[in-house]
Amino acid sequence: VLEERKQLWQEKDVRLTLPQRSPSSYKGSHGKGLLIGGSAAMPGAPTMAVSACIYSGAGLLTAAVPESILTSVSVTNPEVMLRPLPERSGQIASEIISTDFAFESYDAVAAGPGLGRHQGTKAVVKKLLSDVDAPLLLDADALYYLPELEQLIKERRAPLILTPHPGEMARMAGVSISEVNKHRFTISRNFAEQHGCYLVLKGPFTIVTTPNGTQFVNTTGNEALARGGTGDILTGMVLGQLLQKDDLSSAISNAVYLHGLTADLAVKDDFHSYSMASSDLIRFLPLAFRSIV
Ligand code: APR
Ligand code: MG
Repeated sequence: VLEERKQLWQEKDVRLTLPQRSPSSYKGSHGKGLLIGGSAAMPGAPTMAVSACIYSGAGLLTAAVPESILTSVSVTNPEVMLRPLPERSGQIASEIISTDFAFESYDAVAAGPGLGRHQGTKAVVKKLLSDVDAPLLLDADALYYLPELEQLIKERRAPLILTPHPGEMARMAGVSISEVNKHRFTISRNFAEQHGCYLVLKGPFTIVTTPNGTQFVNTTGNEALARGGTGDILTGMVLGQLLQKDDLSSAISNAVYLHGLTADLAVKDDFHSYSMASSDLIRFLPLAFRSIV
């Protein structure tokens, strides 16, 4: 039995809180999103995040990626709009700090997948933390520089959502990975409360913590998710739900639930946890939604 500020997030919760799509809706009803990521070494990460966001119902999505990988993102996702970003040696250049993104036209922004660790990533994260007034999701290498940007996090007023795996959480909290794994609930709650952010600590039984310390524990997913790229898909799915729901806590928990469910459906009849690719999960998103609504 879980204590009061901790609860399981289950199918009935998703069923009750996943927004219905109205027959009279149009693309503007489902949100305009921006995803920032990618580098020459990791073009697939933003590509998968974009696919996952599109298959999660986003109305309009723009991908901002280094110029040299625009084609890899758009070949897989013909619907996505593109913003080429200045780059140096295949990575976003630090001059990005003076780029005008027109952030006010987006309902939510996500950054991280495939960015790599370099000064351009730090510059992007600084800019996003201070300039994005909509919900902002940071994942992967966008989490790497957060210990140096504590002040900007404290000054930020709009919602911030962080999605670390245990290694990223350890760096953010300044503790070892084994400490994180031993005290997953308290470390994520303390971090979320101290920084006023939503925190998704990933792994089996992913924990979603709200800024006031309430925790939702996910019940879906399996070891088929233990491969590179599944985190990028989660980022796209969370962005998709953030675009379509004002209650961020259930939007995030629903995306985490559905992400695990795609993996559960994938290994049921078609794939095997040994034998599948992260990108195969995309084709199970429709099945996951069909099983709920
Ligand atoms: N059971 C359930 N869910 C799992 C399991 C498991 N055994 N293993 C992984 N998952 C889920 C996590 O909960 C999370 O949603 O799969 C996803 C993995 O996300 P990440 O760890 O972020 O993986 P990803 O980013 O795709 O790839 C690893 O992270 O450390 C960096 O640079 C490294 O590129 C690498 C990347
Ligand atoms: Mg990751």
